[in-house]
Amino acid sequence: MAPANLSTHASNDTRPEDVQGCVIVAIANQKGGVGKTTTSINLAASLAAMRRRVLFVDLDPQGNGTMGSGVDKYDVDRSVYDVLLEQCPVADATISAESAGYDILPANADLTSAELALADVDHREFRLKHALSAVGDQYDIVLLDCPPSLGLLTLNALVAAGEVMIPMQCEYYALEGLTALMETVARVDASVNTEIAIEGVVRTMYDPRNSLSREVSTQLLAHFGDQVYRTIVPRNVRLAEAPSYGIPVLYYDRASSGARAYLALASEFLRRHPAIGELTHKIETDTDSNNTGSKTVPEPEDR
Ligand SMILES: Nc1ncnc2c1ncn2[C@@H]1O[C@H](COP(=O)(O)OP(=O)(O)OP(=O)(O)O)[C@@H](O)[C@H]1O
Ligand SMILES: [Mg+2]
Repeated sequence: MAPANLSTHASNDTRPEDVQGCVIVAIANQKGGVGKTTTSINLAASLAAMRRRVLFVDLDPQGNGTMGSGVDKYDVDRSVYDVLLEQCPVADATISAESAGYDILPANADLTSAELALADVDHREFRLKHALSAVGDQYDIVLLDCPPSLGLLTLNALVAAGEVMIPMQCEYYALEGLTALMETVARVDASVNTEIAIEGVVRTMYDPRNSLSREVSTQLLAHFGDQVYRTIVPRNVRLAEAPSYGIPVLYYDRASSGARAYLALASEFLRRHPAIGELTHKIETDTDSNNTGSKTVPEPEDR
């Protein structure tokens, strides 16, 4: 899909993350299936397990992030669509994703029509930013799971966020399309008149036995340097299975390589964001290893 147009004049109001202590991150890559939703869900759950207050915003009409967080996308009264159309405030559409440990602003197929519904609206790419400014003081971290396009929904995420995290699958053509994403980020920068940081590049679905994975990883390091997270997310079947149970991998198989990788990613994320707290918190599940409450933890077979 072609990048959507930006308004030529930005509003001068503050970004939502200017609300003290709230970090807003867009998890974006217009390439499909690179691990945006898997990263959003499992980073959110890991940060929540580290006792950070997390809001997950599903900006994809596919609603995968909503379902993977244990919320039935077919059974939500209000969604991010209503928020973008200013039919309700964020708080009224936000649900506690109890099995995941964070709050979620859900999405479903309604969101498909958002672009059309907002076609004639001025500053339509600022809708999410304005909506989130009302809840910034209630969360430490807001993660925005973007759809695989550079349309209006991703633009809303980039405008609302101060930072963008880019999951990259370690395979051929990983860098393909990156120029378009970077150009979009630069256009948003110009529009909001402040710079969006590339918060980080996360290597996903990494297979150490595959020389291509290693080559692409080296390429990403050469291209992005320190912006690349040291934590590598391996290819792990548990990460692919967990969404069908509506739980993050941490509560599905906490010993799996996928769960460990996302906990490590969350730790690294917090080290990169000292403003949202030093790593003095113990992971809740570590202090509670035999009691997972209502969370289902099936027996692992293949890690
Ligand atoms: N590290 C991993 N190991 C194994 N499977 C993975 C891993 N990461 C993601 N997957 C699987 O790969 C598929 C694509 O992942 P995901 O949905 O997170 O990508 P996405 O970028 O959000 O996709 P889309 O662009 O459609 O939104 C899913 O089936 C997911 O379960
Ligand atoms: Mg997705």
